[in-house]
Amino acid sequence: MIVLGIESTCDETGAAVVKDGKTILSNVLASSADIHEKYGGVFPELACRRHIEAIIPVVDEALKTAQVTPDQIDLIAVAKGPGLIGALLIGMNAAKGLSIAWNKPLVGVNHVEAHLYASMMELETVPLPALGIVISGGHTLLLKILELGCYQPISTTVDDAIGEAFDKVGNLLGLTYPGGPQVEKLARLGNPKAYPFTAGKVKRSPLDFSFSGLKTAVLYALKGDVDKASIAASFQETALRDIANKAMMASKSFDCQAIFLGGGVTANQRLKAIMQETFPHLPVFWPQGTLSLDNAAMIAGLGAKKFFPPGDPLDLEARTRIPIV
Ligand code: KG4
Ligand code: ZN
Repeated sequence: MIVLGIESTCDETGAAVVKDGKTILSNVLASSADIHEKYGGVFPELACRRHIEAIIPVVDEALKTAQVTPDQIDLIAVAKGPGLIGALLIGMNAAKGLSIAWNKPLVGVNHVEAHLYASMMELETVPLPALGIVISGGHTLLLKILELGCYQPISTTVDDAIGEAFDKVGNLLGLTYPGGPQVEKLARLGNPKAYPFTAGKVKRSPLDFSFSGLKTAVLYALKGDVDKASIAASFQETALRDIANKAMMASKSFDCQAIFLGGGVTANQRLKAIMQETFPHLPVFWPQGTLSLDNAAMIAGLGAKKFFPPGDPLDLEARTRIPIV
């Protein structure tokens, strides 16, 4: 089955062609991150305008790179949410238009579930039940994976998502948007033990996350003549260890066979080391290559698994918030 995937939940316009849910024939991205830099975060209206310009050229390039023609496409999969509503609508409407013009079925895919699928994509068999960790600019989620499409949420954040905290701390440190990769780079030059930051605790919910207090601690630490690299390193160490520690506690609450990670923060190399240290006894699966960050290959891949007899493509709706289950 050859699937064309379309992604437009935030500031990346993506199109990809994936065969049988796993073989990536093309994976094209146009990012509007450059225009958001001066605002220190995604400016939704400007992201939408870029999506409008980029969507058809990106789809064309994905088909060209994959060397497939529209008649060889079996299915179109589009990210239906969660995300910025204006951004979602552009991908959704493009997908509906192509579905009708090419007479191809259309399936809507949950972006968060697709992030998790990115670390399963290459596997022949998925060890289950497993712990899922979604850590991105919009989400911080621990969940029990019973099977593909069947999840039990374990915990989430009560304020900022972890990627959002990295981006805001990047801002405080005077780094450009998106802050995550820049904080990681700066942190390599610092001492992670220099600042005694602590991760947020949520009353009566020991597995939930809270990053707003940590962010404020960084703000106060930055007063005066300070070692910014060590502040970045100490923040990063505290935030990432919080993820690993709570994931460890969650994994002990059931017969966990493996860990699957997804979302932009999984691009962080320090996290890989911390996870290895925390879970020496369990297989830990990561999104391969560039699949940590938003992309359409994960949408196309999961689309192949979500395809049931097609409904009317015009019935599909984009949603700002949708649960993974
Ligand atoms: O999954 P993603 O591309 O978009 C969302 O669905 O949100 O994740 C983007 C987030 C941003 O907050 C970005 O700063 C963060 O992932 N990120 C990182 C790294 N690379 C991207 N955070 C920490 N370390 C990184 N290397
Ligand atoms: Zn994402």
